[in-house]
Amino acid sequence: LPVLLPNTLGLSSQARRAQRLSSLQQLPALVDWVQEQAEDAFVLGGGSNVILPPDVGRPVVLVQNKGVRLLRETATARIVEAQAGEVWHDFVSVTLSQGWAGLENLALIPGTVGAAPVQNIGAYGVELQQRVDSVLVWDFREARQVELSAADCGFRYRDSIFKQAGNGRWLILAVRFALPLDWTPVLDYPDLRKHPRLADVSAVMPRAVFQAVCEIRRAKLPDPAVLGNAGSFFKNPLVEGAQLQALKSRYPAMPSYDQGGGWHKVAAGWLIEHAGWKGKRLGPVGMHERQALVLVNHGGAAAEDVLALEAAVRADVQAKFGIALEREPVRVE
Ligand code: EPU
Repeated sequence: LPVLLPNTLGLSSQARRAQRLSSLQQLPALVDWVQEQAEDAFVLGGGSNVILPPDVGRPVVLVQNKGVRLLRETATARIVEAQAGEVWHDFVSVTLSQGWAGLENLALIPGTVGAAPVQNIGAYGVELQQRVDSVLVWDFREARQVELSAADCGFRYRDSIFKQAGNGRWLILAVRFALPLDWTPVLDYPDLRKHPRLADVSAVMPRAVFQAVCEIRRAKLPDPAVLGNAGSFFKNPLVEGAQLQALKSRYPAMPSYDQGGGWHKVAAGWLIEHAGWKGKRLGPVGMHERQALVLVNHGGAAAEDVLALEAAVRADVQAKFGIALEREPVRVE
């Protein structure tokens, strides 16, 4: 029987060949199954960063193994291991209830623990890579389990070796986090700096940051359970100094962030809004009315509708600003 595939964009998608990984005891059988298939398997967690076709022809692995444990303490950090199938936000909540600070800025990001390293999730001044100790994977090529250090993972902005390799090479089994024993709040992001809960910086506790992040996200970002979406649909593009100056002279209010080395990140949401797409629809999909960077499914959309809107937005931003936007979620064919 076909299996319905979870995905936060709310696309209806099914696979004829799918296997669950509910615990690591099932790993040997799962590996055998994957090797019997003619094509590389596609690994799916919560489906929060994918554009799925109506029928996925490839074999699919559904990662659902759960568990969180404190492994050890080093001089500077607690090493906490979470199984890949844990829901990311639930895991963040559990760490804070245990008094383990460090992931509070990453509250309410949709998806699973195992998906988090693939695109190196980041929000409000913290990226996953700053908190990863290692990633435990099954390496299909070497046919063995491997512990990859954070440096091995090739983390970049919304990128990693896992995203680059695509599916077929690694299956992420668990992630080990290094949570700082000497915690200080990360409040660099403008929305956090001006949040009333965080006014007295010297007295700020991890839970207050967690709550502030949840409030900010709920105010701007649509809940996928209500309105299908995959978070930011494009990456914030990088431009060089000369191009930034030319843009700023025409659009002085355009937000940008200095990345060092002569590079600047430009807010894609602002570009999309000013190309006229904020709150605008094309067929059953549109760009969100409160955050133009988020593509939303108003109901009944398929991958082709998503790709049509992507192309239209890209073309208009290119024409108006001379910037080529890059898609953030992964397309599965
Ligand atoms: N902006 C507009 N119009 C819009 C949207 C944004 O003018 O429609 C402006 C905002 O006013 C602000 C700037 O653009 O000056 C940046 O907007 P925002 O603070 O909402 O953050 P973002 O750059 O759009 C990024 C991440 C988000 C992350 C937030 C907070 C990417 C692609 N997106 O969004 O990550 O939550 O910063 O750190 O880097 C995701 O990746 O799925 C995601 C939601």
